[in-house]
Amino acid sequence: MKAKLLSNKSRSLKSFLQLLDSQGDLHHVRTTVSCNQEIAAITDRICKSTGGGQALLFESVRESRYPVVTNLFGSARRAAFAWGRGASFQDIAKLINNAPGRGSDERLHHLVQLRRRCSEGTGRFDLPLRKCGLTSLPALQNWPGDGGRFLTLALVYLRDPQSQRINCGIYRMQILDDDRAAIRFLPGSDGARIFEAYAQANRSMPVAVTLGSDPAWVAAAAFPLPMDVAESDFARWLSDRSLTSAQGPLTDLTIPADAEFVLEGVMCPEESILEGPFGNHTGYYATPTRAAVFHLQALYHGEDPVFPATVVGPPPMENVHLMRGSEPLTLALLNVDYPCIERLRFIEQGIFHGCTILGVDTSQGQCPFDLAHALWRRGPLKRSRLLIFCNCEMEIEPLSVVLWRLINRIDPEKDILIEHGRMAIDSTRPAGGPSVKVSPVIEGLINRRWHEYGF
Ligand SMILES: Cc1cc2nc3c(=O)[nH]c(=O)nc-3n(C[C@H](O)[C@H](O)[C@H](O)COP(=O)(O)O)c2cc1C
Repeated sequence: MKAKLLSNKSRSLKSFLQLLDSQGDLHHVRTTVSCNQEIAAITDRICKSTGGGQALLFESVRESRYPVVTNLFGSARRAAFAWGRGASFQDIAKLINNAPGRGSDERLHHLVQLRRRCSEGTGRFDLPLRKCGLTSLPALQNWPGDGGRFLTLALVYLRDPQSQRINCGIYRMQILDDDRAAIRFLPGSDGARIFEAYAQANRSMPVAVTLGSDPAWVAAAAFPLPMDVAESDFARWLSDRSLTSAQGPLTDLTIPADAEFVLEGVMCPEESILEGPFGNHTGYYATPTRAAVFHLQALYHGEDPVFPATVVGPPPMENVHLMRGSEPLTLALLNVDYPCIERLRFIEQGIFHGCTILGVDTSQGQCPFDLAHALWRRGPLKRSRLLIFCNCEMEIEPLSVVLWRLINRIDPEKDILIEHGRMAIDSTRPAGGPSVKVSPVIEGLINRRWHEYGF
């Protein structure tokens, strides 16, 4: 990740916005706009401009008194701010390699624990309490066929009933009415696992949700962490900033103290509702599926709160930058457990399915398909749908070059593994002979004579 990091002082969404403003990286839209597709269509157009465009602050929203910010992480530089020290492979690899512990999970656990001890006791809940309903929020309807308005950048906090560890993930929430929202936990997520654990015990599940906080919280919520690493500790360590936590007054769940909005409520195991359709990264609508129902008990917000949202849709979108920003961290962790993995690139078109190109040193004797099995068992790529293995001396970007080599090099009978709906392609087979190149002598000759050819 080459992007230059922004200053490291920001500690809340507001100070992040001030910083972006001072650097000309925040565009203010002062004219009144609608949550119903208009904000999304503007954001979509800006996201698809070169470099991902500026962050967008919509100051006047027709359906709500709160301003909306979108495209917060929609450039390499802004995403790098969220990933903090995890955005530089050299920095993060040094820390992880020097940490005690056998594998990457143990080392990460050790590092974030150290940071935790440094910042314990700083939390204080100081949000003014106000009761209002979910429909007062400027949740966006992004696309014409969406089933309604959604919170798309909601951080959801749940307590694992077995370990008591608090898990935080980003899960979309469809507003149903003032008091209810549907939450879709994807199968295989910690959210789905924890909800199931409450269902097994026939207990209702306390839930806290925050919108708008230091960008490191968003990065931590989006990253698939090992079970015993709490997102709050990870966010502190990653950002190297003193992020303050607070306890939700009703749920006692640990949340960022500086959140712009906090929702607290419960989910009952026996209740579900059809959620969607929702236009997503595939370019199509996710068909309505049964999802769990969140019942709002309290809604708090800070002074003059700003509501964050992201628009999901055909790439490139903001989320591509956010997920790409985690490449250095993902590589550094994998490199501890599998030293033969030397390079890594997420494929933009499949970034949400963990489609990844891996440059591996095949001289270390690791068979790519054994590696695929190990990566699917545990670690940051365990939910990946497609893994492409290349020799580390091959270029792993752009994708067109990888595909060109792969199509010509692989033996489809032997080099493709399809298992449980996932695929690995071994493109490490050595080329049959010398590569085709212009000779250096002829290169020099035509360079000298180029103008003679009339170009
Ligand atoms: C913008 C955005 C939206 C997301 N929406 C969902 C969602 O609706 N459901 C879901 O299960 N995961 C969603 N994810 C992915 C999870 O947040 C991510 O996989 C996270 O690691 C899940 O944490 P968990 O494994 O602790 O549940 C989303 C991620 C992003 C960046």
